[in-house]
Amino acid sequence: MNFLLDTAHVDSIKRCCEFFPVAGVTTNPTIISKENTDFKSLIYTIRDIIGFDRMLHIQTTSTEAKDIVKEAVELDKLVGRKNFFIKIPITAEGLKAAKECKEAGIGVTMTAIFTQTQALIASNAGADYVAPYINRLDNIVSDGVHVVSEIAEVFRMNNVNTKILAASFKNVEQIHKVALTGADSVTINPDIFDMLIYHPLTYYAIDDFDKDWETVYGDKKILDLIK
Ligand code: E4P
Repeated sequence: MNFLLDTAHVDSIKRCCEFFPVAGVTTNPTIISKENTDFKSLIYTIRDIIGFDRMLHIQTTSTEAKDIVKEAVELDKLVGRKNFFIKIPITAEGLKAAKECKEAGIGVTMTAIFTQTQALIASNAGADYVAPYINRLDNIVSDGVHVVSEIAEVFRMNNVNTKILAASFKNVEQIHKVALTGADSVTINPDIFDMLIYHPLTYYAIDDFDKDWETVYGDKKILDLIK
């Protein structure tokens, strides 16, 4: 399962790309607005940091199909070439735009997915990814992981090529359970990357290794002993 970053915060993207195996970046209008900066230079900077081997998913701000397609074409020219996906919310206009974007050779992620049938229809329109929102479903006493597991099952039954890019996470348990569904990718905020690898026993273990080594070798490191 791939891990993407759900942020447009440049320093966080730099740090996460340095330390974690980040497969790409996803944004939406809320995430972009939080940065409160020039949009064009922000997405250029993000592309510059992540390169062309990582995915970049940028959400449309339009609602009519013709405008969504225009935005997708221009964004594709600006930051596309490889691994660019226009994120389109699942509406009738969105489905029309998705089909047209695919015909123009532009990657499509259908977003704001809350049901299994939305995901299946998005796949029929040719979407490369569907983005179901886990935590927002959990917040309304639904079950985000269950929805994703049924989307995965329906996709398998229908031999669908569309991949699941699960979104909207607030904790590691949600990610673990989504991983068990066979979802292709998750997009998470930078704090959750740190939470994914945190366990106090890991730090106890590292402390013990350091103490045992120091008892015999003092402050010498491996390189001091083999040079
Ligand atoms: C990604 O596609 C979504 O826009 C995002 O993950 C939503 O997350 P939120 O529910 O934390 O806003």
